[in-house]
Amino acid sequence: MSDHAKKMAAEAALEYIKPGTVVGVGTGSTVNYFIDALASMKHDIDGAVSSSKASTERLKQHGIAVFDLNGVSELPVYVDGADEINRHRQMIKGGGGALTREKIIAAVADRFICIADKSKLVTALGDFPLPVEVIPMARSYVARQLVKLGGDPVLRDDFVTDNGNVILDVYNLNIGRPIELEEKLNQITGVVTNGLFASRGADIALLSDGQTLTTLD
Ligand code: 5RP
Repeated sequence: MSDHAKKMAAEAALEYIKPGTVVGVGTGSTVNYFIDALASMKHDIDGAVSSSKASTERLKQHGIAVFDLNGVSELPVYVDGADEINRHRQMIKGGGGALTREKIIAAVADRFICIADKSKLVTALGDFPLPVEVIPMARSYVARQLVKLGGDPVLRDDFVTDNGNVILDVYNLNIGRPIELEEKLNQITGVVTNGLFASRGADIALLSDGQTLTTLD
């Protein structure tokens, strides 16, 4: 059911892709379905910018050109998944560890389209542990600061991000005010990014239960 739901949401995103543009591509199992679907449009688009080595590889396997973001000044659409999303289209992301590059591409894009299976829709963010990307030498310091904020950080085992950093997955944080918490976490020295996408959430969410598609906008 879940794989079918992911595929349905991913394929629905094709409608938002404009011919003759560069497409922003996220990371994860739902995005993999999107990349496979995007291959059907590969002669219509200029190419893609990618948020991870894994997505870059998959795009290239389909013959889709992948550009360095620094050479791209216009990005009409960014398509990516989420670990949780609320009715305000604020998200927790980073389950796949690509949160920093995802946040950078989301910042550049005019429109963020979130694709997900509908089980990701929550009334309040926070059951999913919040990923925080950290410079390795700051790991213990950042963990102590996260504990002071009420969280229980756990170092993600055997995982190094595409940027050479580590991830602390933070359990039990109170995410009642997502925008404030996102800013507060970013102020901890040694934090590269946190997985709250609240100040820049999704513009459109395409959510599927495998039977129907729900659009939040
Ligand atoms: C990766 C992400 C993904 O979008 C998120 O983890 C959802 O992944 P999936 O589509 O596999 O459920 O943020 O860093």
